[in-house]
Amino acid sequence: MTTPETIRTQILALVKEYHTEKFASKTFDPDKDLVHYAGRVFDAEEIVNLVDASLDFYLTANRYAERFEAEFAGYLGLSNALLVNSGSSANLVALTTLTSPKLKNRRLKPGDEVITTACGFPTTLNPILQNQLVPVFVDVNLGDYTAIPERLAAAIGPKTKAVMMAHTMGVPFHLDAVMDLVKKHSLWLIEDNCDALGSTYTLQSGKMRDCTLFCEAKWGAVPVFSQSGHTGHRKLRTNPGNDGRRNMQTL
Ligand SMILES: Cc1ncc(COP(=O)(O)O)c(C=O)c1O
Repeated sequence: MTTPETIRTQILALVKEYHTEKFASKTFDPDKDLVHYAGRVFDAEEIVNLVDASLDFYLTANRYAERFEAEFAGYLGLSNALLVNSGSSANLVALTTLTSPKLKNRRLKPGDEVITTACGFPTTLNPILQNQLVPVFVDVNLGDYTAIPERLAAAIGPKTKAVMMAHTMGVPFHLDAVMDLVKKHSLWLIEDNCDALGSTYTLQSGKMRDCTLFCEAKWGAVPVFSQSGHTGHRKLRTNPGNDGRRNMQTL
């Protein structure tokens, strides 16, 4: 008997076959082929899952999103993660959440200063401007493009409330020095981890988590540390309002 489920099974089997015919023959020759900085990397499982999700015709988050959030949080050893549509959105959601009145005197307010790097990705910077915060730029080391720790220390002033910067091109910035600074001055640290998911740093696990929000972007997810103590990310993703901030009163 033909049922939607048997048709789905047939479609997915065909999609797998399609992948083999269309893509699986591509090989990589290390002597001839370029290693690209970025690009589409997928196998049959990805394309099958993509079609499987589209057959549900849920155009917003559904079972795959829920599964991704749970598995992603598990991978990072966190209680929660929030999937968004891009790395840029992850940065915006993470920083904007910190403007919630529920954070009381730790809330980021217009005019507060956020330290970031002078050389980095545009959408690490944009959420600072979008929230009417003031970026304070520090120079990076030539070669690895991570913030120079002494410059970071020198940039901290009475209005500094957060540090937001990326682990550029997979190279972790000086987390030890940065963590010491953010703890000493009670700052938020927002790590744009678009380029560096899975990279490690010689730091005791747990040490980083006192006041850290990660932006695991590229796949667009915001891991949520339970210590941040509220669930504003989810509301903000669902209903950000025209300027991305309208709903902050209710977060
Ligand atoms: C460091 C960094 N932040 C943010 C982004 C933005 O990610 P997306 O293109 O998914 O919005 C990128 C993209 O390459 C990035 O490298």
